[in-house]
Amino acid sequence: MENFKANINPLSYFYNIPLYESGESAIQGKENVVKLSANENMNGPCNEVLNQFADYSKNIFEYPDSNHFALRNKIGEVHNIDPNRVICGAGSDEIIQLLCRCFCERNDEVIYTEHGFLMYKLSALATGATPVQVKETNRTASIDRICAAITSNTKIIFLANPNNPTGTMISEIEIEQLLNKIPDNILLVLDGAYSEYVDSFDGGISLVEKFANVFVTRTFSKIFGLGGLRVGWGYGARDIIDVLNSVRSPFNVSSLGLKMAELSIADVNFVNEQRELNRVNRDMLRNKLLDLGLKIDQSFANFLLVRFVSEEQANTIDSFLKENGFILRKVGSYGLPKCLRLSIGNKETCERLYQTLAKYFDNNDRV
Ligand SMILES: Cc1ncc(COP(=O)(O)O)c(C=O)c1O
Repeated sequence: MENFKANINPLSYFYNIPLYESGESAIQGKENVVKLSANENMNGPCNEVLNQFADYSKNIFEYPDSNHFALRNKIGEVHNIDPNRVICGAGSDEIIQLLCRCFCERNDEVIYTEHGFLMYKLSALATGATPVQVKETNRTASIDRICAAITSNTKIIFLANPNNPTGTMISEIEIEQLLNKIPDNILLVLDGAYSEYVDSFDGGISLVEKFANVFVTRTFSKIFGLGGLRVGWGYGARDIIDVLNSVRSPFNVSSLGLKMAELSIADVNFVNEQRELNRVNRDMLRNKLLDLGLKIDQSFANFLLVRFVSEEQANTIDSFLKENGFILRKVGSYGLPKCLRLSIGNKETCERLYQTLAKYFDNNDRV
């Protein structure tokens, strides 16, 4: 069947788009593995979701509301924003793709930072646009470098804040400085996939009120614990939202996803509790790993990026952790081959991971 190939050519610029490499999720021959490779909330969703999921599934013979009315209204209520300027998508991935599809064409440029989320590059390539990677400073986005990369072809700047996989973030003041320097026909997309993990941070929502060329994306996949349901949303100027809505498919988000996301966002206490649990476990684990001599930037999200002395050491430790039932995320595709990213689990998981790494360094050189 090797030769069973269609003689039908895709668009010329679809030929060289690399596949998105997601984190591994299983170890062959091992059960009860701990998956720390996808920045999920391993505590799962809030109780209301668990209580209503089975009952609500009786309705899945019905198409979802193509207008996402109830979820947009709930998002509007919780964030005190206009629901008519909210769009929902199959994860924030879909919103990122839609933004590129609607606002970029060939020869346009899309800026993203050195270790920025890979979907920015892939989504730009899928529209024929040119992704432009801008160097970071100590794994943190640099406003000056972003400004220096702008040309008359720049259409979109993507900035995850906090960023994945570095966990670093920049201040709202710096973002405002950036906005004051860039032309208003360049869209700045602030990706807030991890913004709920940062105390008193609105992920850039207030900047959308001030600058019509700012767009915010959010997700239910992280702190809300709904990664498997694929729900995300975006917030921006009405004309941007209208274009995105005209291009997205009408039933892009499942009815179950819409309903569970609506229940989740209403549970403000759950989000506050999860943020605090994550902070305590993350900072405790980071301090212990620093004591082992490892290098780790301060993280504002639900993961840590651990830097090892070499790519070889990172790979050896990755294999050692796999033998011990832990799956971490290799981040070579993010230009960080000497690093491993680990999601923050519960207290017991963090403790076991620390013990396992300590055991490794008891028997192996640090350098
Ligand atoms: C920075 C960032 N943005 C967006 C996403 C996409 O999330 P989703 O499509 O699940 O909403 C992720 C997922 O890992 C991410 O890390």
